[in-house]
Amino acid sequence: MSNKDISSSLKESRSFPPPAAFQSRAHIKSEEQYQQLWNYSVENPEKYWSEQAESLLTWFKKWDKTLEWDLPHAKWFSGGKINVSYNCLDRHLTPERRKKPAIIWEGEPGDSRTLTYEDLHKEVCQFANVLKSQGIKKGDRVTVYMPLVPELAIAILACTRIGATHCVIFGGFSSDAIADRNNNAESKMVLTADGGWRRGQVVELKKNVDEAMLKSKSVEKIIVYQRCKNTVTMKDGRDFWWHDLMAKVSADCPAEELDSEHPLFILYTSGSTGSPKGILHTTAGYLLGATITSKYVFDLKEDDVYWCTADIGWVTGHSYVVYGPLANGATTVMYEGAPNTPDWGRFWNIIEKYKVSIFYTAPTAIRAFAKAGEEWPNKHNLKTLRLLGSVGEPINPEAWMWYQNKIGGGNCPVVDTWWQTETGSIMISPLPGATATVPGSATRPFFGVQPAIVDKEGVPVEEGKGGFLIIKTPWPSMLRTIWGDDNRFKEQYWSQIKGCYFTGDGARRDEKGNYWILGRIDDVLNVSGHRLSTMEIESALVSDPAVAEAAVVGAPHDLKGESIHCFVTLKIGNAPTDDVRKRLIDVVVKHIGAFARPEAVRFTDSLPKTRSGKIMRRLLRDIAAGRESKGDTSTLEDFSVLAKLREDEN
Ligand code: WT7
Repeated sequence: MSNKDISSSLKESRSFPPPAAFQSRAHIKSEEQYQQLWNYSVENPEKYWSEQAESLLTWFKKWDKTLEWDLPHAKWFSGGKINVSYNCLDRHLTPERRKKPAIIWEGEPGDSRTLTYEDLHKEVCQFANVLKSQGIKKGDRVTVYMPLVPELAIAILACTRIGATHCVIFGGFSSDAIADRNNNAESKMVLTADGGWRRGQVVELKKNVDEAMLKSKSVEKIIVYQRCKNTVTMKDGRDFWWHDLMAKVSADCPAEELDSEHPLFILYTSGSTGSPKGILHTTAGYLLGATITSKYVFDLKEDDVYWCTADIGWVTGHSYVVYGPLANGATTVMYEGAPNTPDWGRFWNIIEKYKVSIFYTAPTAIRAFAKAGEEWPNKHNLKTLRLLGSVGEPINPEAWMWYQNKIGGGNCPVVDTWWQTETGSIMISPLPGATATVPGSATRPFFGVQPAIVDKEGVPVEEGKGGFLIIKTPWPSMLRTIWGDDNRFKEQYWSQIKGCYFTGDGARRDEKGNYWILGRIDDVLNVSGHRLSTMEIESALVSDPAVAEAAVVGAPHDLKGESIHCFVTLKIGNAPTDDVRKRLIDVVVKHIGAFARPEAVRFTDSLPKTRSGKIMRRLLRDIAAGRESKGDTSTLEDFSVLAKLREDEN
């Protein structure tokens, strides 16, 4: 794909400096301070990262070499010995932190638990002994397929304690997906639960694992946590109850002294082909990335109650539910269930109940809440909030403004954080006490991160022009390879632009130095020679008061090359009339220009999404083009949406 002039005509002039009260207490207090530190971090990267590794992490043995860079293979802090669970737990067993809540958990049915650092440490040590007693050794892979209960955090922390490499699979994946991942990782054990609660129903996790076992060659044992007390079949000699095994072991388990580059976890993510990629992260660099970004992007303080709504099945849950907050000694909130169970007030109720001060969620959720109406947040006291975050996809300015005003009460900074499974931790984001935020922009690179926007030859594009987002230099939490497929790793990330990491995203940088993520480059359209970001058209559509959500794709067009197809969900109470359709076309023309006039606007009750909430544009492209869908639909949340969209065509 060429990118000569990815049009980016969306204008956004609103800008919000950090609130003075926030700024005066923040870790990084001004734009100048940020700029100074950033300059230092990129001019002396090894020195910078070495200083941070020294001050933020606790080591058994100091490293010999900060970075060995044999493009595209990086080794960070080699020679060093460290343990992730030690950094997340043991070092917080001080008089001040021992009794501090580490995890505050709320189950969907309304049950709740609080685990202090002392409690969590004990559970993790005990479960690490369970793993050892069942034959798990350093370097073995362990699959984790569990609901969002504290035991999921305990399971992965226990793996890190003994040097087992965990592979968490989101609880929404099917048995086929589990089997594929088990086989790819050659997993020796699966940790699961009888079930988990989702919208008042039991998701039968153990049953899915049983089916996956028919095709999983390497798995020898399964440990089952009892959550829902639904009936499960336990196979003698293969399946064990979590509580039975826990009752038999001691709580004494010293943390293994592991090499900095010891494989920490594999997390599968989808690429441009049908088969998932196992992204490999290693110990010290990943931990440093998760720790430092949690501290500065979320401005974590001792008394914060921090809630990231992501599932631990995704990288956001790894880095910002478990490892980042715990390494900082923070209190992290976990909620098991759906945002609209029993009603759309659930999140706001949890914020009020636990006095949450930092809240991190996804644009798709924000749009759903905006659609449900402000009466839900209005019923709750959200005054404890001081900072809001967004992640996962570009956030359209209207959703951003709704978030800032209706949830943040107009006085919480909103940090729009750009990163990827591959990057391990946040790469581009405002620092809330330093950066003036701009709705829709992820703003500035984090310390040590050197992004650039280039054309397909690798030549930097002009200011304001769209291009490929790349990262020019290695960073500690970068992926190390694709598990079992180093060629794909090289080809996918390191062969497009020589010597640089290719993100797969389009972006532009404005005159203030702020980055605007335009979405995946495969979502960029070419209409009559004009390059357009689908995201910009979507933002225009969503700015109309009747629109809840919109997805835009290109369809082949004889004259224009591609034409713009819009799939639109209206807010409740708005009828899908021809007048609305006409108005929406006008909105796009008004926001972007006549060249962006949509070919078609189709109304739909919901959009096809992956279980993590990403709109599956590939499927919409097929519908727009009138094609049968080919390729992998295993991550689609609700197949009926697709059938419905097709029906509406006829
Ligand atoms: C892709 C990575 C990173 C955690 C969750 C998703 C998109 C992510 C943003 C953002 C615009 C974003 C990118 C990226 N993305 N955050 N703040 N603004 N786009 O992880 O599944 O690995 O997806 O999500 O397209 O490449 P992931």
